[in-house]
Amino acid sequence: MRHVRVRLARRVEQYEIAIGAGLLGELGDHARRALSPDARRVAVISNRTVFKLYGAGALRSLRAAGFETAHWLMGDGERFKSWRTLEAALEFLSAARLERTDAVVALGGGVVGDLAGFAAALYLRGIPYLQAPTTLLAQIDSSVGGKTAVNNDWGKNLVGAFHHPRAVVIDTETISTLPRRELTAGLCECIKQGAVGGRKLFELTERFLIDKREALNDAERLAELIAAQCAFKAKIVAGDELEAVSRSDSRSRRILNFGHTIAHALEKVTDYKRFRHGEAVGHGMLAAAELGKRLEISDGNDLESLRAAITLAGRLPRADDLPSSEILSTLARDKKSVGGHIKWILLERIGRARILDSREIAPRTLRASIRAALHSNI
Ligand SMILES: NC(=O)c1ccc[n+]([C@@H]2O[C@H](COP(=O)([O-])OP(=O)(O)OC[C@H]3O[C@@H](n4cnc5c(N)ncnc54)[C@H](O)[C@@H]3O)[C@@H](O)[C@H]2O)c1
Ligand SMILES: [Zn+2]
Repeated sequence: MRHVRVRLARRVEQYEIAIGAGLLGELGDHARRALSPDARRVAVISNRTVFKLYGAGALRSLRAAGFETAHWLMGDGERFKSWRTLEAALEFLSAARLERTDAVVALGGGVVGDLAGFAAALYLRGIPYLQAPTTLLAQIDSSVGGKTAVNNDWGKNLVGAFHHPRAVVIDTETISTLPRRELTAGLCECIKQGAVGGRKLFELTERFLIDKREALNDAERLAELIAAQCAFKAKIVAGDELEAVSRSDSRSRRILNFGHTIAHALEKVTDYKRFRHGEAVGHGMLAAAELGKRLEISDGNDLESLRAAITLAGRLPRADDLPSSEILSTLARDKKSVGGHIKWILLERIGRARILDSREIAPRTLRASIRAALHSNI
């Protein structure tokens, strides 16, 4: 038998994340700079809620930069991140006669971003797209890193593609219209990135949270937080673009899942109805920190800093009534396990993660940690 090796140099694509107040008004200029000179059409994918607020401005800016525009609005909500919506989005791109040099703009939160990005990855085997994220979660997390996906009957985000945007345009003014719970959810993800990213990022996030009310209305501080968060995410992504399964070091992309193992179980046992994803991450981080403390990987002070930060982020829906047995059995069916074992992201200390295989954790300790965290009434 002969073997021929196909060598592909996978290039980590370079792109700019622009952050500032009012940037949707300059979306067209950003698209011009990021796209090829042959780009003629831009297809905006959004939803009714976001489009009503920011659609007209985005289209105006794109047209002023010489693009022909088309737009299409998907349903609002996680349940619309589906095969059916994806198919409808592809039909829209085809009806809009997008060519390979044209582009999609995802205008909205993570749901719109993931679906529009996936549609762009599939249409004509991949066309350019830009992210214009309008939730805090999307601005600091989902719009950066090139993961796109839809949900289906057997789980969330299990079908998707890595497809990087050509640019990310973050208009910090969009945060002003965000519902309170969405803000809390986004702030929890900021805490998560600080917790695994580094003391400096955690402390910047903490300071922001301490004067949350003023800071949210201060364009400079908001941009500073978002930029620091994006810089961290971009650095992790650049070092481990495809989230290599073999990696379990403290800089692997997997550390971004801190708090997520329990969060996914909480979302699942409540049928995705009680928690916004980021809120579940709030509880999940506390459970992971509790586990780290009980395993003597970290000390109690870090758990307290984390708890204080999460409290400042906003009120989380209760979790103390959820049976830990059900959470544990949901964890056992976790689809993101490797070789049948969950990889736990724990904290050695604030700013440094450690990945531990579930075989190294006694079920008793896990159960006790979950129970303690969920009853902490955050
Ligand atoms: N691709 C990734 O790397 C990645 C990372 C994290 C999360 N995600 C995905 O992101 C999704 C969650 O994203 P999300 O939290 O942004 O939720 P979302 O997109 O559902 O948005 C939350 C709500 O806020 C509304 N909204 C958005 N922007 C608004 C604004 N400026 N003003 C008022 N309302 C606004 C939306 O219409 C929606 O009702 C999940 O599907 C998750 O899987 C992806
Ligand atoms: Zn998350």
